[in-house]
Amino acid sequence: MSVAVTEDVHLDYAALSRTIRALTEGETDEVALMATVVCEVHHADSRFDWTGFYRVTGPEMLKIGPYQGGHGCLQIPFSRGVCGAAAREKSVQLVADVHSFPDHIACASSTRSEIVLPVFNATGELIAVFDIDSDQPAAFTQRDADGLMAILREVFAT
Ligand code: SME
Repeated sequence: MSVAVTEDVHLDYAALSRTIRALTEGETDEVALMATVVCEVHHADSRFDWTGFYRVTGPEMLKIGPYQGGHGCLQIPFSRGVCGAAAREKSVQLVADVHSFPDHIACASSTRSEIVLPVFNATGELIAVFDIDSDQPAAFTQRDADGLMAILREVFAT
């Protein structure tokens, strides 16, 4: 599927959500759910070059979970990077240019833009952040943030 750079109109989030719900029906194991979400999202759009979860494994600490793409850093404190900011502020980080984000952690030198979303469980507890990197500048939009947050809510918070 050839998607024009930063053109997110082609990504059908409703269809992606239906696919993920069908694949994860009845599953409650977080790692199994994370692995399935990563696989389906990563292959849904050519803008996505690295897709993965960082799990909250201790106070103010994130550790890598299921991911697709090149090497991912193993652990990130809440005080560092785009992932740390998403966990600390419990809010979506939409970064058009990673080189202008203070303290961005470059796991891959090719990354140009990034989106990181907080992941909550059914009791509202932050359990992880979901991170997607792109080698394209300004690859992510509010439409991506809305579509991805809806999928994360459906899978982990219901
Ligand atoms: N860039 C992230 C670190 C994880 S890599 O993108 C896989 C950050 O700044 O937090």
